[in-house]
Amino acid sequence: MHKEIHEQPRAVADTLEGRLAGDRVLEQAFGPQAMNIFNQTQQVQIIASGTSYHAGLVAKHWFEYVGVPCEVEVGSEYRYRRHAPRGGTLLVTISQSGETADTLAALVEAQRQGIVGSLGGCNTPESSLVRESDLSFMTHSGPEIGVASTKTFTAAMTGLMMLALVLSRRHGFDAGFEAHVVKQLRSLPSALEKVLEIEDEIAQMAKAFGNKANALFLARGAHYPIALEGALKLKELSYIHAEGYPAAEMKHGPISLIDDEMPVVALMPRDDLYEKMLSNVNEVKARGGTVIAVATEGNEDIKKLVDEVIYVPEVSSLINPVLMAVPMQLLAYHIALWRGCDIDQPRNLAKSVTVE
Ligand code: M6R
Repeated sequence: MHKEIHEQPRAVADTLEGRLAGDRVLEQAFGPQAMNIFNQTQQVQIIASGTSYHAGLVAKHWFEYVGVPCEVEVGSEYRYRRHAPRGGTLLVTISQSGETADTLAALVEAQRQGIVGSLGGCNTPESSLVRESDLSFMTHSGPEIGVASTKTFTAAMTGLMMLALVLSRRHGFDAGFEAHVVKQLRSLPSALEKVLEIEDEIAQMAKAFGNKANALFLARGAHYPIALEGALKLKELSYIHAEGYPAAEMKHGPISLIDDEMPVVALMPRDDLYEKMLSNVNEVKARGGTVIAVATEGNEDIKKLVDEVIYVPEVSSLINPVLMAVPMQLLAYHIALWRGCDIDQPRNLAKSVTVE
C-alpha cells in the first residue's frame, strides 16, 4: 500500500497521458462510439462500491457543476429496487477490478431498463466490466495489489473529471473553462508529489491517534466523499471505528460523541465553504474535541484553533478533493502501522468482491 500511495503522481500522469490535446480532453479516449453516446446524454447515473463509490460521489459535484444531472448509488442497492424511467441516461460504472459482482449486476439491470449507453471506468482492461460496457475509460495506474484502494481512487477521479469536461461542452461551457481545468489537471501530479512530502509529519500525528477507539471525519461539499473515504481507509486498515459526516449534520446527532477521546479530522480547504467549516470546528473545540485540520498551505490562522494541521498545496477548488485524498491514505496507513496491523491484507477483506 505504501508503494502504491507513492505511485499516485505517476498513476495520474499516466492516466492523463495521450488523453489531452493541448488544452482539450480527447473524446476518443472513451471509445469509438463516445461522440454518439455523449450527444444523447442528458444525465449520468453512477454505480460503484466502496472507494470507487466515493470517487463517484466526488464526480457528482463535477457533473452537476457543468450542468449534467447526476445520481450515484452503490450497485447492491441499485440492482434490487424499482427505477422510475429517466430518458437520456449514461450509466457510468466505476471499478478498479472490473469484477465487483454488485456493480456488474447493476450494469445488467440498467441495460434492461434502457439507457443511452454504458461507460466503465476501470483499471483492469480484460475485465468483465470493460467487456460488457459500450464505452470504457481505463485508468493507467498499473496493478493495485494492496487491498485498500489508493492510486486507483485518485486516477478514477482524474478520469471522471475528464468525462465531466467532455460533457461540459454540450452544456454551454466554453473552451476557456475546459482549458482552465485541463491546466489544473496537468498540475495534479506535481501537487500530489508535494502532498507526499509531508508523510513524516503525518506519521508523527498517527501516534496520538493510534490508541483511540473511534474517529470522526468531517467535511462539506465535494470534500464530504473524501471524509467518507478517510473513514473507510481507517476502518479497513486499523480496525478503529470511524465515520465520515457532512460537517453541519454533526449537530443532528454525532456532536454528542465529542469528547477528548474522539479525534476529529476536518477537511477545510480555503474555498466557499471554509467559513462554514471553521464554525463547525469551533463547535468541536468548544466541546473538548481534538482536531486535525487538513487545510490549504498558507493558512496560518488555523493553527491557533486546532491541535494539528496537515497542509496541502493550493490548487483550484474543483480538483482539490483529489489532493486531499492522499493525507487520508497516509493517516490510515501510519495509524495501522503503529497498531501493528496487517496493512496489505486486512482481516476479513478480499481485494475484489466477486460474490454477493
Ligand atoms: O474493484 P472495485 O473498485 O469495484 O472494488 C470496490 C470495493 O470493493 C473497494 O473499493 C473496497 O472498498 C476497497 N477495499 C477500499 O479500499
